[in-house]
Amino acid sequence: MKYYWIVMWQILVLSTIVLSAQSTEGRYENVNVKQDWWETAVMYQIYPRSFMDSDGDGVGDLNGITSRLEYLKELGVDATLLSPIFKSPMHDFGYDVSDYYSIQPEYGTMEDFEQLLRKAGELNIKVILDFVPNHSSNESDWFIKSSNRDEYYSDWYIWENGHLNDRGQRSPPNNWISLFRKSAWTYMPSRDQYYFHQFGSSQPDFNFRNPVVVEEMKNIIKFWLEKGVAGMRVNSVNLFFEVDKDVYGGRYPNEPMTGKPNLGPDDYGFLEHVYTKDQEETYDMVSQFRDVFDAIAIRDNLTRIMMTEASTNIKNAVRYYGEGIHTGAHIPFNLALIADLDKDSDARDIKYAVDRWLTYKPLKKQANWVTGNHDKSRVASRFRPELVDAFNMLVLLLPGIAITYMGEEIGMVNGFVPWSETKDPQACNTDDPVNFIEVSRDPVRTPFQWSNGKNAGFSAADTTWLPVAEGFEQLNVAAQRSAVRSHYQVYRTLTNLRIRPAFRLGRFESLALNSDVYAFKRWFNDDTYIVVMNVGKVYHVVNLTAFDLIFGQLEVEASSVLSSRTYSDSVQANYLDLAADEALVLRMQV
Ligand code: NOJ
Ligand code: MG
Repeated sequence: MKYYWIVMWQILVLSTIVLSAQSTEGRYENVNVKQDWWETAVMYQIYPRSFMDSDGDGVGDLNGITSRLEYLKELGVDATLLSPIFKSPMHDFGYDVSDYYSIQPEYGTMEDFEQLLRKAGELNIKVILDFVPNHSSNESDWFIKSSNRDEYYSDWYIWENGHLNDRGQRSPPNNWISLFRKSAWTYMPSRDQYYFHQFGSSQPDFNFRNPVVVEEMKNIIKFWLEKGVAGMRVNSVNLFFEVDKDVYGGRYPNEPMTGKPNLGPDDYGFLEHVYTKDQEETYDMVSQFRDVFDAIAIRDNLTRIMMTEASTNIKNAVRYYGEGIHTGAHIPFNLALIADLDKDSDARDIKYAVDRWLTYKPLKKQANWVTGNHDKSRVASRFRPELVDAFNMLVLLLPGIAITYMGEEIGMVNGFVPWSETKDPQACNTDDPVNFIEVSRDPVRTPFQWSNGKNAGFSAADTTWLPVAEGFEQLNVAAQRSAVRSHYQVYRTLTNLRIRPAFRLGRFESLALNSDVYAFKRWFNDDTYIVVMNVGKVYHVVNLTAFDLIFGQLEVEASSVLSSRTYSDSVQANYLDLAADEALVLRMQV
C-alpha cells in the first residue's frame, strides 16, 4: 500500500513537469489562484457589418466572422463581443431591433449563427451578444400592434397625448430631446398620440413599468443564453426608465435647461436629463436581469456574464457593479480611457483617469479597460497613430479585463465618409453637410482592413456599405503579419504576456514620472514588470527607481513599433532615455 502511494506521487509530480514543459507559459501555471473564465479575459468587439463579407454583397456577415475566428485566436482573444445581429431595418444599424429572436437576413441565418458558435467553441472563444432592451425598431410587430392599441401590446411603449392649440397645431407632450437631436416625441396618427424615443424616431422606447415587457426582456436573454452564448452586453441601461409621471400628476415634467452656450433646443445637451436618465429603478432592473444569467450559470456550472453599457458619471457607472441587495453586472463598461482623455491629455491625465476608475470601483470587483468602440473615434485618430501601441499596453496590461474594438490591434485610423455617403442616423439628423463630421460614427465603422487587395480584402463587391478607409494598402493585417515589427506583433506579444500571474493577478502601482511619461508597475511574488510610455512629443530621461524596489537592470519584453529597443535588450532602471511616443514593457532582473 505504501509503495502504491509513492508511485502515485511520482506520477503526479512527473505529469506536472511534463504539462508545464509543454505549455509556453508553463512556469506560471502552478500559481494556484482560481479565476473564472471572464475575470481577466481579452475581449474583442466585432461590428458585424464591417468585419468580413462572405457573400459579396458589400456587407459583413456571420459566415464572414466564422471564417476569421482563427484570426481572433491568433491575437490571443478569449471572447468576442458582437454588435447586434438581430433582425432590424438598420436605421441605427442593428441598434433598432425588429425581432429579438431571429438573425438579420443580410447577416445570415440561425444555422449560420449556430455554426459560428460551434467554431468559436472549438477554438475556445466565447461569444457575447449585444442586447438592446431600451427600445425596439418602429418596424417591430410589437410596436405596430401597440400603435394600433392592440389590447396586449397597448402599454408596451410610452404613449402620451400632445398639445393641440386653437389653430389645430400639434406639439409634443413636453420639451424632452432625443440623443440623436430634436424632440424625443414623435406623433403616430394611427393612435393619435406621441411615442417617446431616447434615440431616433425609428427607435421607440419600451415601457419598463409594464411587467409584461420586463418578462419578455428576460425571455430574450434566456433564449440566447440557452443557445449557448457566454454573455450579453446590455445596451443603454441607464435609459430604461423615465420618471414616474404619476408622481407629477400624470404628466411628464419638462427638463430644466443646462444653459450651455452654443446649443439650441434641438441639441441633447440643451437640457439637464434629470427625468430621463439614471433613474433609481434602473439598478433593480439590472439585477433582475442578472438573476436570469445566474440561474442558467448555476444550472450549467458555467458563468454567463452580463456586461452593462451606460454613458453616465462615475458614481452611477460603478453602481452597476451591484450594491446591497442588488447583484449588478459582472462588467460595467469603463469608458474612462475614452471619455476622460483627448488629444491634449498627458501622462498625468492618464494616471488620473486610470486611478479614478480603480478608486471608485468596489475593491473586490474586476476593472475593465476600453479604448474604442463603434461609437467613438479610433485611438490613432483620437490621439495619434504613434500612440497605438501605448494604448494597447494600457488596455492589455492594466489590472482586469481588456476590451479591444476590432482594428485597434493594427492601429486602424478613422475612415473618411463624405456627407453623400453618410449612413449614421446621428450624423444624418444634423442636416448639416459640413458639421455632421463632428458627430458621425461612420468613420469608425469603415470596413476592416485585411489586406491590400480589393476593398482591403473585406468584400468582393463593387461597392461596400461604407467606403474603405484611405491608406489600407499599407495598413492591413497581411502587411503587419509579415512585418517583423508591427502593431499586430506588439498586440500578440502583449496578450501572451498578460497570461503571466503578474498581469492576471498581480498588484498595481502607477506614477506620472513627469507630465509626458506615465508608468505602472505590476508584480506577483518576485516577478515584476514596469510598463512605461512617453506620450509626449519630446525625448525624456526618466528614473524608474522612483518605484519601490525597482533598481539595476530591466529587460525589454515588448516595445512600441518605433522604439529602437527590441526583446531582451537591457535598460538601466535609474537612467532610461525614452524617445517621443516610445512605450516599453520591462521586466526586473532577479
Ligand atoms: C448605444 C450604442 O452603442 C449606439 O451605437 C446606439 O446608437 C445606441 N445605443 C442606441 O441603441
Ligand atoms: Mg455579406
